[in-house]
Amino acid sequence: MVMRIESFPESATPAELLVQVRELQQEAWPGFTFPTPNHDPALRPLSMVLVDDDAVVAALDILSKEITHAGQRYRAAGLSTVVTRKAARGRGYGRHLVAAARTAMADAGFDVGLFTCDRPLQAFYESAGWQLLPGTVLIGGTPEDPFPSDRPGFDKVTMAAFFTPAAERHRPSFHHARIELYPGQIDKLW
Ligand SMILES: CC(C)(COP(=O)(O)OP(=O)(O)OC[C@H]1O[C@@H](n2cnc3c(N)ncnc32)[C@H](O)[C@@H]1OP(=O)(O)O)[C@@H](O)C(=O)NCCC(=O)NCCS
Repeated sequence: MVMRIESFPESATPAELLVQVRELQQEAWPGFTFPTPNHDPALRPLSMVLVDDDAVVAALDILSKEITHAGQRYRAAGLSTVVTRKAARGRGYGRHLVAAARTAMADAGFDVGLFTCDRPLQAFYESAGWQLLPGTVLIGGTPEDPFPSDRPGFDKVTMAAFFTPAAERHRPSFHHARIELYPGQIDKLW
């Protein structure tokens, strides 16, 4: 068995892999039809796939933009559409890929990784090196049409990683904060 991680700009994902990524996504979110491209190109989507022989077993996308928080500018990246093939869940593939994405973000020079997830998945992301930002809300959408992660009916937590010394120094400003992410109307909360 040969396991490997491959990554591509979303728009350059080889067709034979993209077909499988869409299968995994469809399996996980059956009510939603995923367009191609799936993400706002302005967020420079980078797709990462975990491949076992020729089969995609897990996939995710990294989205990124500059943000300003508490008077500081940061190169921020986030995780989106994290998914493991249903038949292959519970074997550590998801953890392996979200840990690799964290390393990839650090290597790419981002200051900070930031995203929200449903509360029950907090431990899953923590097991891959991500940390909870206590009491923190990400404000998605746009300044004109904000989409906060604490809207009624949502039960989200905010996960983070601080990659650069400057970001690490400012970590306290990310706790119990409302962070203006504003990724736009397509990837409302990445
Ligand atoms: C979330 C998901 C990607 C995890 O992938 P996976 O390959 O099964 O994860 P792993 O095998 O690495 O599991 C790691 C841990 O997370 C836990 N976990 C996984 N999904 C969980 C869930 N929905 N709720 C609570 N815990 C969960 C596992 O039990 C495991 O814990 P353990 O090691 O203590 O047993 C997968 O369940 C999935 O595709 N879900 C549907 C899509 C989704 O919800 N994506 C995330 C939000 S965008």
